Amino acid sequence: MASVPALARNWPLQSRNDRVSIRRAGTSRLSVAAAVSTSAPTGVVTREEVITSDPFNNVSENIFEKLNKNHHQNPDHPLGIIKQVIFDYFDEQFNDGEYTKFDNLKPVVSTEMNFDQVLVPKDHVSRSPNDTYYVDENTVLRCHTSAHQAGLLKEGHTKFLCIGDVYRRDTIDATHYPAFHQMEGVRVFEKAEWEAAGCTDVELAEKELKRALEGMVTHLFGEVEMRWVDAYFPFTDPSFELEIFFQGEWLEVLGCGVMQQVILDAGAGEGKKAWAFGLGLERLAMILFDIPDIRLFWTDDKRFLSQFQAGCFKPGGVGTKFQSFSKFPPCLKDVSFWVNEQFTENNLCEMVRGVGGDLVESVALIDDFTNKKTGKQSNCFRITYRSMERSLTNEEIDDLQMKIRAAMEGEMALELR
Ligand code: DAH
Repeated sequence: MASVPALARNWPLQSRNDRVSIRRAGTSRLSVAAAVSTSAPTGVVTREEVITSDPFNNVSENIFEKLNKNHHQNPDHPLGIIKQVIFDYFDEQFNDGEYTKFDNLKPVVSTEMNFDQVLVPKDHVSRSPNDTYYVDENTVLRCHTSAHQAGLLKEGHTKFLCIGDVYRRDTIDATHYPAFHQMEGVRVFEKAEWEAAGCTDVELAEKELKRALEGMVTHLFGEVEMRWVDAYFPFTDPSFELEIFFQGEWLEVLGCGVMQQVILDAGAGEGKKAWAFGLGLERLAMILFDIPDIRLFWTDDKRFLSQFQAGCFKPGGVGTKFQSFSKFPPCLKDVSFWVNEQFTENNLCEMVRGVGGDLVESVALIDDFTNKKTGKQSNCFRITYRSMERSLTNEEIDDLQMKIRAAMEGEMALELR
């Protein structure tokens, strides 16, 4: 399979928009306001609800189309299959049903839930409209399932798993897509539990966290080498990432840690301790099923979907592997332009995805120079078009490329070269 690059070292996971390191940004502690109830079921998200004339609105048609797909609720979809394997692990490892499972929480959430309640600093890059889809100033498409932590705690849940579609503006390649799926897990401990274990509250949470997650990874992959790496997330302290040694390289599979006390106190009341984790489902499914391109999770192609059925994956990484159907030839188009002040790569990718849809396989910066005399910066991006379903004609690609060039000159006010 195509190699899956290591994820960002710092939160957010599965995004490469961490040019501004959150480590440097620091952890300003924000107050956790009363949680909005989060467990209202998804229902259908209407277009009017998310595409509005609000000046903050940056939700595209392309993203709206992803909103009601709920692949994770389909037991025969690779994402639904991996979800079930993880749910089964928790039911086997702990008492059946001990962990409450949520797979239908609405992806349209308040900025309060998405950021403030989990202590994301006010100046953190993930709050920027360049990185997150805003419905209006106070409402976003969740960029992580951590958005539900505080609300579920407030509703009295103390052991839960929550899975859902999440949205992030990002650049385009085989392992990044603006919509993907995450699972969040939380477990709260009472004082009596760490007293009975004869250790401190943090020691117990950390020990139990590592035990549960190492078990989950073994359940998924079989016997693999694992290592814990110190990490930073605004919502946990200490924080870790779990990596596995797979096909010759270390791959990050999840982020986790001991929940920041202020989140827990506000949600579950004082005197408790908790662990939390978050993982990306596509990443796991790409590794476990040998799926080479993240766009495949969104295809209706029977040649893809018919390869997977509930139960086709057996714990320990055994079971179905994706058999790739013939790869059609790519078509490459380069575009060069003078960079202006408002240019960002995410904006370019969003526009390109809007015009080319899933025919766009990748958008890559291949040249970047600054003219010494004028100080003007020039970029050249290579757009790779490829359908996973059919051969593309020159005419249709020329037509898409012309539309993209026109939008660069128009909407993006770029001077093409
Ligand atoms: N929310 C993080 C992300 O999107 C993942 C994560 C990391 C969730 C650590 C957690 C956690 O609950 O403790 O990348």
